[in-house]
Parts: sequence; structure tokens; C-alpha cells
Amino acid sequence: MNIVYLNGEFLNENEAKISIFDRGFIFGDGIYEVLPVIMGKLVDKEDFWLRLQRSLEQIEIKNPFGKEECLDMLQSLVDKNKLEEGSVYMQITRGVAKRDFKFIPNLQPTCMAFCNELEILENPKAKTGVKAASVQDIRWKRRDIKSISLLAQCKAKNEAYLKGAFEAIMTEDGFVSEGSSSTIFMIKDKTLITTPLTNQILPGIRRKNLIEIAKKLGLEVEFRHFSIEEMKKADECFLSSATLLVMPIIQIDECNINDAKVGQIALKLREEYKAKIITEAKNS
Ligand code: PDD
Repeated sequence: MNIVYLNGEFLNENEAKISIFDRGFIFGDGIYEVLPVIMGKLVDKEDFWLRLQRSLEQIEIKNPFGKEECLDMLQSLVDKNKLEEGSVYMQITRGVAKRDFKFIPNLQPTCMAFCNELEILENPKAKTGVKAASVQDIRWKRRDIKSISLLAQCKAKNEAYLKGAFEAIMTEDGFVSEGSSSTIFMIKDKTLITTPLTNQILPGIRRKNLIEIAKKLGLEVEFRHFSIEEMKKADECFLSSATLLVMPIIQIDECNINDAKVGQIALKLREEYKAKIITEAKNS
């Protein structure tokens, strides 16, 4: 039985209940975060906290936690579940109220978190790479907020799944925005290329750290828009996210990338990312 966190309590998962009037349930009025866990420790914690704060500010929900209190609660959840490797999902919604579209001030936010067991460091998919399919990006205009309203992303992922692909690469006006739950990168002539940060994409935590790692490795980094056609001609393509770290993409819409082989630069970035979070886990 998994132990989950809900509004100040650790409960068995089947005991955790929320009101049907929760604005998260009714309107998708809330935000979430996903943190990787390795060696029994939460990692990328600083970036998690900054983005959590930012998302809450953007939708005018007061963070019910202080930083240390929040991180301690999440680490306790990991400990109680004896989670060695995987992720923690945390969600904060505006709270419970009579159905009314406008923001209701001074509600008690609903806070919830749970763990997921996953292979992060030695994910076998990272050795073979994954297939991706292009789909239309039909989302709202504030994708920089990590909103729990994810129907467009569920639809995108499902479309990709039905085409036998692992991830959907979403496009808008002919250009790639991001994956349904990941940041998209390509490499051409030793230059790492990714979409610039605007309200059209989530400011990925792995994106931010991978850019720093790439620069340290001596790669050029370019922020610009690119099409699926350009990705198909790239030397390498990969995606990044909390639980996948760096995942090579070896095929897009039946077109092989790098002869359907995992690229050396993606592999190097993945190894460096692993080293970064292993160091963080050992020091915490
Ligand atoms: N998704 N873009 C979107 C739309 C995402 O949903 C995610 C992550 C990312 C990658 O961001 P990060 O490196 O900070 O995880 C980019 C998470 C993992 C999820 O929804 O499960």
C-alpha cells in the first residue's frame, strides 16, 4: 500500500479523499511539479522550488509551504514509501468552493503528493532510443505555467501512442513547441538547438541544466524555432524531462534520425546529467 500526502497528513492511498468541489477537480485550477528521486533522495530540488513558486504566483495562489517545510515533507514521503528510485508528484489547487469561475480569495489550497517507482538512471529505453510522432499543439497560451489542465497533452500523447510512438512532438504554425511532457532538442554540427523560452513552452528544469552542461562540454547552444523537417535532418535529436533525464529520439514519423542509432552527444549529456544528480543525492 502506498502512502500519500494530503493537506498535512500522510495517509494510505485509499484513505486520501478530496471534495468533488475542489477547484482542481472542477476547473483544473491548480499547478503541479514532478521531482526525480535517486538513491532514496529528491534531486533538482532548488529548481523545483523556484518553478513551483513561479507557477503559484502566476495564478495567484499563496504557497502554503515554506521551502524547507515543503522539501522535508516530500523527503518524508519518499522515506515512508522506501522509494529508492522514481519520482514524486506534487499538486496544489486553489481549494474547495462553490462552483464560480472567478478566483475565490483566501481559500485553503489543497496540497497533495505521491510517489512513483521508476527506473531513472538505467532506463533501458535510453540505450535504444525512442520513436516520436508529430502532432498539432492545441494548447492554451500560458504553457509556461505548470498547470494541471493537461487534456491537450493527454490527447497529443494518445495520438502518438496510437501511431506506435513513445512521445508526441507538438507543432504550431509549422514549428516545434515541445513534447507532450518533455522539452525537445536537436543537434546539428555540434550545436545544441532548442526552442527559446516564451509563454509557448514550459521552462524545463532539465532543459536549463542541460544547457549549462552543454556549454561546459564546449557545445554551441542556439535558441531558435525549428520544424519537424529540420529535426528529421539533424545529426541527433533527444527529449528531456524530470523522469527521463535525456532520452534519445531515433525516429520521427517513420523517418530515421542518425540511422536510428542513439547519438553520442545525447549519450554524453545523459551521463553528465546522471553525474550531476548523483552528486546532489550523495550530498543531501
Ligand atoms: N513533464 N514540457 C512539458 C509540457 C512538460 O510536461 C514537461 C515535464 C517538460 C520537461 O520539464 P522538466 O525537465 O522540468 O521535467 C517540458 C513532467 C515530467 C510530467 O508532466 O510528468
